[in-house]
Amino acid sequence: MSSPESGSSNPTTVFDAVGETGLRQLVHAFYRRVPGDDLLAPMYPVAELPAAERRLGDFLIYRFGGPDTYLHERGNPALRMRHAPFSITPAARDRWVSLMDAALLEAGFPMEVTAVVRPFLHEAATFLINRA
Ligand code: HEM
Repeated sequence: MSSPESGSSNPTTVFDAVGETGLRQLVHAFYRRVPGDDLLAPMYPVAELPAAERRLGDFLIYRFGGPDTYLHERGNPALRMRHAPFSITPAARDRWVSLMDAALLEAGFPMEVTAVVRPFLHEAATFLINRA
C-alpha cells in the first residue's frame, strides 16, 4: 500500500464533517484505553500520554484536511521511522486497532466518516508492523 502520510480518498471530508473537536475526541477515547492495556501500556510512559495524545491528534487533523500544525511541530511524519523503536508485532497492531475501533464506536462519527477513517487507521497500522 501507499504510505499513510499521503494520498487517500477525499481527506477533506473528514475534517469538514467532524472538525478538530471530533478528531480530538477520537484520539482521547483511544488514549484513555491505553494505560489499561497489557500489551500497549508498557510502550507509552504514563508521563508522555498527554503529549502522545496531542501528537496523534495533530497528525490526524493534518492528514484529514485540517491545519498542518503537526508538520510545523514535528516535521515529516516518517511514521515507519518514528515507530522503529517500538516492537510492533502483528499482535500489537491488532491490539492498537481494537482499541481504536472501540474509540471510533465511542466517538460516534457519521457512518460515511467512519467508512473513511476506519480503513485508513487499519491499513496504516498494518504498514507499521516492524517485528515478526
Ligand atoms: C500499529 C500499532 C501502533 C503502535 C503500537 C504505536 C505506538 C506508538 C508509540 C509507542 C508512540 C510514541 C508515543 C509518543 O508520541 O510519544 C507512537 C507515536 C505516534 N504514532 Fe503510533 N503506534 C501504532 C500505530 C499508529 C498509527 C496507525 C498511526 C497513524 C495513523 C500512528 C501515528 C503516530 C504518531 C503521529 C505518533 C507521534 C510521532 C511523533 O511525532 O513523534 N501510530 N506510536
